[in-house]
Amino acid sequence: MTSLWERPDGPVVGQAKPHESAVGHVTGTAYFTDDLVGRLTGVLHAYPVRSPQTHALVTRLDTEPALGVPGVVRVLTAADVPGVNDAGIHHDEPLFPSEVMFRGHAVAWVLAESLEAAKAGAAAVVVEYDPLPSIVSIADAEAAGSFQGTTSVVRRGDVDAAFASASHVFSGELEIGGQEHFYLETHAALAMVDGSGQVFVQSSTQHPSETQEITAHVLGLGSHAVTVECLRMGGGFGGKEWQPHGLAAIAALGAVLTGRPVRLRLERSLDITMTGKRHPFLARWKLGFDDELHLVAMSGEFIADGGWCLDLSAPVLARALTHCDNAYNIPNVEVVGRIAKTNKTSQTAFRGFGGPQGMLFIEDALGRCAPQLGVSPEDLRRRNLYRDGDSTPYGQPVKDAGRLATIWDRAFTTSEFERRRAEVDAFNAASPHVKRGLAITPQKFGISFNTAAFNQAGALVQIYKDGSVLINHGGTEMGQGLHTKMIQVAATALGVPYELVKLAPTRTDKVPNTSATAASTGADLNGAAVKNACDQLRERLANVAAGWLSHDTVEQWNLPLQPDDVRFADGLVYPVGHPEMGKPWAEVVNAAYWSRVHLSAAGFYRTQGLHWDAKNMWGSPFKYFSMGAAVSEVEVDGFTGAHRLLRVDIVQDIGNSLSPLIDLGQIEGGFAQGVGWLTMEELRWDTSDGEGRGRLLTNSASTYKLPSLGELPEVFNIEVVPNLSERGAIYGSKAVGEPPLTLAMSTFEAIRDAAAAFGPAGRDPKLGLPSTPEAVFWALTEAREASAPPST
Ligand code: MTE
Ligand code: MOS
Repeated sequence: MTSLWERPDGPVVGQAKPHESAVGHVTGTAYFTDDLVGRLTGVLHAYPVRSPQTHALVTRLDTEPALGVPGVVRVLTAADVPGVNDAGIHHDEPLFPSEVMFRGHAVAWVLAESLEAAKAGAAAVVVEYDPLPSIVSIADAEAAGSFQGTTSVVRRGDVDAAFASASHVFSGELEIGGQEHFYLETHAALAMVDGSGQVFVQSSTQHPSETQEITAHVLGLGSHAVTVECLRMGGGFGGKEWQPHGLAAIAALGAVLTGRPVRLRLERSLDITMTGKRHPFLARWKLGFDDELHLVAMSGEFIADGGWCLDLSAPVLARALTHCDNAYNIPNVEVVGRIAKTNKTSQTAFRGFGGPQGMLFIEDALGRCAPQLGVSPEDLRRRNLYRDGDSTPYGQPVKDAGRLATIWDRAFTTSEFERRRAEVDAFNAASPHVKRGLAITPQKFGISFNTAAFNQAGALVQIYKDGSVLINHGGTEMGQGLHTKMIQVAATALGVPYELVKLAPTRTDKVPNTSATAASTGADLNGAAVKNACDQLRERLANVAAGWLSHDTVEQWNLPLQPDDVRFADGLVYPVGHPEMGKPWAEVVNAAYWSRVHLSAAGFYRTQGLHWDAKNMWGSPFKYFSMGAAVSEVEVDGFTGAHRLLRVDIVQDIGNSLSPLIDLGQIEGGFAQGVGWLTMEELRWDTSDGEGRGRLLTNSASTYKLPSLGELPEVFNIEVVPNLSERGAIYGSKAVGEPPLTLAMSTFEAIRDAAAAFGPAGRDPKLGLPSTPEAVFWALTEAREASAPPST
């Protein structure tokens, strides 16, 4: 076996390839789940009967009237479930509930010949409810003591003693907003029973194995009787890590009961009101500094709004707690986290998985403390960065800690921070109604699933007699380019051209027991599994080739060739150092077949060296840390509070990239999604006591503001740190999927800087999240009032 991280000669990894489906994406030939409906006959359409109540008991459910609607074939209710009536792993998520937990909760599903008929059928189902009191905000939940899961604490040292001896202590509170995934492809499943009686579900899922498991539970079948395939997703962003399961189970149940294919696709308005979002957080913090303005203590509290059921809230909270240090060394820490239970959609994974909320906690706090300490935020941040030898509040040494300062300094220099700081100050001094702001923030993000067991992956690689290669792996494609990277990995490991490798869609009958494609680990885990399978095959082929090539080497040097000295590159198999003596790959493969060599291999990988005590939140859960820094400059209009993003400079460590073009897209896209979350995307729920209580008010693209091209910075410089190689990961690369989202904190901090410039120095520049024009307007109004002479 060759090393995990070292690259052979002429690697295909590292080449700037377009996304493997790029042409299909733009020509419409790359199919998504719902595109397959048109290829089938007799498809039934599923539509939910949804609760108009925010919290209530179902007292009567009469499906009869729906059956009278033309086209309606069947109505699915709890009575139809042969297995377990639950859509989740924690068994707190009834698929057909007798108590509705949020507005829009599905109580039954109608199957009909057309979508219109299914909708008419759903409207005809009679449901009576007995309303119950509802909890629709974190404040409500806190007052009522409505929590779920366990309380978690990350703790090190003695915070009380540290605060007592600290020179400066500040405290504050912040409300962090949720975020709607708004993937272009909404949730979709298409189920059928195939010719052999196997239940087959095509699902837009980041976690096919769990979708399979839940579907099997609901149907009362073994997992071997259910196959789940994911062709690709039109975006997942974490939203399809948990929530596809119940929807797939409904479609499968319908298919089993009717014998016909069942299509379930949530229209946008259903998707946005029925499925979970990023967790909103209420956070309270207290920071202590010594005379040198080094952090000595941090304490605080997180309350994550988990919505109606547990879902992924516990691991999301764990990631928030293990990221509330972001890039800073803090000797004494005690942060407590709890999960509120509310009558809202079940909040779930979203790019960063709680990490962004945790990191924002300390960045917001530092942004508010700096002016009160009389230093610039960049000075305060820089002097507190982790250094080599430091460890996190949960006991993990920060590998390559010194790189944080290197990256920071690089971003600081290349963005010409100092010069621009002076320019911004000069601009602001001369401009009473428009102010500019400038900020730099660092990023450190742990890579691996916190739960060590999930850090495993499998792959299946087959070589056919003609030399062509087909690969399967457990990861899913959601636009992030994982499949492209996996083809590059296989081509590199086998030494064949990119074009010779084809990738088949993710299926549970090809690679079983897979983990979710999440936590940015897709390429690390599946790449290592693909390479492992290829390594096995290459070793087998090397034996064949050594025998064959020995005819030539004996003739030339009187030396038989050892298998270890066989090299594979560019479609040739040759003695090390002598490609001119090489045999074509396809001929070697064919010779291997005739020698009865097995040309298929299952690969496996598990990340070594991880340990995590979840109860005490202590250990080394991460293989390595992703690191970066970003500088943002904004301009804020004092009349409207609106901002413009003028320039962004990013420096990101992605190790030795597997696929530079893909990674660039991930950095740009992640950053843009972060800017959306922090500055414009606002989820508003009706918290009044009226009729609409619990309703999501921002339930469409017209009321929920997404970032578009126009909001991206006019100048957008992205630099990846050159000449790095991560020894813990496939071919020296580093994960890139989620971390860049958190670089958008620099934009939020720059807006804070601009809003504060409307007032005197030295105040607490509080800014609400997301920093919509309204929030910015309040912040700058407060600043202005602080400088106004006291009224008489
Ligand atoms: N990029 C695109 N285009 N679409 C997505 O849905 N999801 C993000 C990120 N980048 C996503 C994306 C999330 S939440 C994760 S965890 C990673 O991709 C997952 O893929 P990876 O592990 O292969 O990086
Ligand atoms: Mo990503 S939130 O881990 O799917």
